[in-house]
Amino acid sequence: MSIRYDESQKLLTLDTKRSTYQMLVDQYGFLQHLYYGRKVEKANMSYMTGNYDRGFSGNPYEAKENRSFSLDTLPQEYTSFGVGDFRINGLSVVNGDGSYGADFRYVGHRIEQGKYSIPNMPSVYDNGGEADTLIITLMDHVTRLQVRLYYGVFEEKDIITRAAEIVNVGSLPVKLEKAASMCLDMPFGQWDLVHFHGRHCMERQVERAPLIHSIQTIASKRGMTSHHHNPFIILCDHEANEDHGDCYGMMFMYSGNHKTEIEVDQLENVRVVMGIHDAQFMWNLNPHESFHTPEVIMTYSANGFTTLSHNYHTIIRHNVCRGKYKLASRPILINNWEATYFDFNSEKLLHIARQAAELGVEMFVLDDGWFGARNSDNEGLGDWYVNEQKLPGGLTPLIKEINNMGMKFGIWIEPEMVNENSNLYRAHPDWAFSAPNRHPMMGRNQLVLDFSRQDVQDYIYDAIAKLLAENNIEYVKWDMNRSLADVYSYQMPRERQGEVSHRYVLGVYKLMQRLTERFPNVLFEGCSGGGGRFDPAILYYSPQIWCSDDTDPIERIKIQYGTSFGYPVSTMGAHVSASPNHQTGRTTPLNTRGVVAMSGTFGYELDPNKLSEEEKNEVRRQIATFKKYYWLIQDGLYYRLTNPERGSYYDAWQFVAQDGSEVLLNMVMNSPQPNAAQIHVRLKGLDPDALYQMDGEDRVFSGSALMYGGYTFPLVNGDYPSMQVHLVRI
Ligand code: GLA
Repeated sequence: MSIRYDESQKLLTLDTKRSTYQMLVDQYGFLQHLYYGRKVEKANMSYMTGNYDRGFSGNPYEAKENRSFSLDTLPQEYTSFGVGDFRINGLSVVNGDGSYGADFRYVGHRIEQGKYSIPNMPSVYDNGGEADTLIITLMDHVTRLQVRLYYGVFEEKDIITRAAEIVNVGSLPVKLEKAASMCLDMPFGQWDLVHFHGRHCMERQVERAPLIHSIQTIASKRGMTSHHHNPFIILCDHEANEDHGDCYGMMFMYSGNHKTEIEVDQLENVRVVMGIHDAQFMWNLNPHESFHTPEVIMTYSANGFTTLSHNYHTIIRHNVCRGKYKLASRPILINNWEATYFDFNSEKLLHIARQAAELGVEMFVLDDGWFGARNSDNEGLGDWYVNEQKLPGGLTPLIKEINNMGMKFGIWIEPEMVNENSNLYRAHPDWAFSAPNRHPMMGRNQLVLDFSRQDVQDYIYDAIAKLLAENNIEYVKWDMNRSLADVYSYQMPRERQGEVSHRYVLGVYKLMQRLTERFPNVLFEGCSGGGGRFDPAILYYSPQIWCSDDTDPIERIKIQYGTSFGYPVSTMGAHVSASPNHQTGRTTPLNTRGVVAMSGTFGYELDPNKLSEEEKNEVRRQIATFKKYYWLIQDGLYYRLTNPERGSYYDAWQFVAQDGSEVLLNMVMNSPQPNAAQIHVRLKGLDPDALYQMDGEDRVFSGSALMYGGYTFPLVNGDYPSMQVHLVRI
């Protein structure tokens, strides 16, 4: 059992293979946090906590003679605002009598086999016998408000998950103004914050900076995960790098407003609080009701970022993604968006499909513009029936022809949105978010449907289910193309409007659950203007997400690099597009576009008829290469060999089979140089004693030579050349 309770010392200990997490129920019943870090054996870590009388840090009433005991300085597991801990808190509550705060004391705990789940929300799951659960109950004895702290321990995978449930056992209604999922205190150490910021077409850029004595916030108030701040942070020691150093990862499994606060307090304690953003959040909790927070996925690595990333890749691939395509090979697709935008008809699509099929592409995806009066992004969203002007006879003949070419068929939808110019909006203007008597903010000229409403969910479910039931659609790209503003539901009373943002997210999850359950053979791909909703909660419903609307391979390297810290390659939608690139105007070789897109789910987004014969052959080769290395890439261990943030003139990364038997080394020169120094990289993760042979050559290298000496690429120049080197253990 990975969870232990020592009754005599009142210690609760969670053990994974390489980490330990420990808590103490103290003499007053507070739940103290003692330790999270490298595995320690048979330890009571309370010896590390020193209590001293600190000015302006008051004391709980029963400890008043003991002025060295203060909630304001103690490391704790979950704290409420208003009762003496002046740092950032997990909970802010207005009690039934108008007072603020909850004085939480331990009342008991339960240890269970298996991983807990969270009602109506995605969470990490256990594949059988690999996880244990600890539930600790704390209670305010006056208001009888409880918080139940959930811990899921995946021992072998070095993962600990956390979530909270707030339960009103009292007799008066309370209001939650903030209900975070977790609080983690780190009493000692000097830390850097690594986070993943960005913008549309430039998601998940890595930034690293030392913490300062302040409260730093990584957040989104856009009603969605956002391109701007991924809900994922790493705290690492100042010297940490890919292979060395202490690193803590915290990833929020949620797709709405989120907030991660990191405070360095007066005594250098670092506290992280992660959860739903408290902006426009207010949850009414009546007697006997409970509120479940989303989950945080935590991991600790004593050996730098690579191990931390591998831990996340494993848990996401095996315990977050679900369904038929979770671990199965996924079809190589061609998407018509950048080839046609809105300007297409059946003939044009079939022309693209025919050529793609001939090149070896396995699935045709029809993007935006096939429904309603959708001739631009100003109209038609919400009308999920075929535009017969573009597609005479509907989807059936088109799909039939495409299937006859030996290809699957996929389609684009954006179920959460509606245009003013649509039949749906004309029939139900109150189904879209807007504040009473005001014009709403427009985003891409569209409005957001109020998914907190059951009738809206049902209507959209019926429309999409009909589409999928009546047609042989084997893939769905689920898009979401604007931020939420004017979040107001015409179906909710005044005092519950603060619940709407979260209820919207729950409504979206419910729709995703219903559709994925009803259509288990459909491969879903998430999307939000590219990677604006890239988070583990979406990955619970769709095993891949379009990584970015930026398909320029040189920019994509940075985006995929940042994304790789938390998410596996099998989740990153990546396509080869036309050159010059539509987003940046840059011209790059087809080979380089292929090498970069292959470090994702791989597909094409261009008109293959516009390729020269030579380029078509190159595409055939790419498809063969991707298929050959499919499992190595999708299931292998991913190693970042260079850091694009450091501005080197090349980037390199590598895949190693889980058993060390095969390696694929990738290199792209991002800024060609005259008379350049040779490109040299040290490989990682090989078997040092084994011999590896390079594809198509007699050359043999030992694993140790490649790792400690390295590999030198032959000199190349030109515009953004790239190379792949494949080695097999002999
Ligand atoms: C978003 C997506 C694109 C494309 C367009 C269609 O921007 O990210 O890939 O599907 O919508 O409107």
